[in-house]
Amino acid sequence: MTRTTPLNTIDLRVGGGLPLVLLHGFPLDLRMWAACAAVLPAGTRAIGVDLPGAGHSDLDGARPSLEHSAERVHDTLREAGVGNAIVVGLSMGGYVALALADLYPGFVAGLGLVDTKSVADTDEARANRRRIANAVEEAQTVDAVLGMPAALLSDISATERRHLFPVLESWIRSQSPAGVAWTQRAMAARPDRTRVLEKYEAPVAVVVGAQDKLAPPAEAEHMAAAARTAGGDVTLTEVPDAGHMAPVEDPQTVARALADLRRRVRDT
Ligand code: MLT
Repeated sequence: MTRTTPLNTIDLRVGGGLPLVLLHGFPLDLRMWAACAAVLPAGTRAIGVDLPGAGHSDLDGARPSLEHSAERVHDTLREAGVGNAIVVGLSMGGYVALALADLYPGFVAGLGLVDTKSVADTDEARANRRRIANAVEEAQTVDAVLGMPAALLSDISATERRHLFPVLESWIRSQSPAGVAWTQRAMAARPDRTRVLEKYEAPVAVVVGAQDKLAPPAEAEHMAAAARTAGGDVTLTEVPDAGHMAPVEDPQTVARALADLRRRVRDT
């Protein structure tokens, strides 16, 4: 029985068996996973989810917290008949994936952590999020985050994949100021969830763009090391020519890592 308002979901790839649930980064929505879902092996079901306040998912009056986001993802999917899934999150989506593994361990049959980190914010990062949340609310526009594509994409994309900049900018422009503010506050409040990985025994795939400036490879190594202490099956994939948007910049390499994760989950 759903206790929360359902989120918007789309089957980005139609298939059967244990689905991949794809959680997007900030300030984006499920569209960021479309290119990667399109190159997953045939027959793989991949469900994109708009997190609260992003894309076509509303805010339902709850105070900002990623635990609330995780609860709504869980309730939405359970209501749709998905009893468990491989949960994959990019950056903020990874924070929510870890919250799901923390709160609903039985639901998360495998974990994909892409361009993300398990640690909490520094005080400086929290203050910056509060500043951005206040600015977008005051201006009632998302102008304060429109410059983000430069930080999200790699230097290689800046020269060889110029077309990605207007695409990301249009996705950001379509977000609501209220959703951006809520999400910044929710991310600021998240705890360090390294301990979740230290206890998580199902297969884990950690994926990182070699040029990720926001969740650099050292964060990926930290997560992989934590997950290995649980004794589970952990892989770490570095995507050479990508930044913080590896599934957008190099969908094939990320899809291969996720297909491998799905195989490993099936074989356990
Ligand atoms: C994201 O891509 O989701 C953001 O970089 C996450 C964050 O602001 O920590």
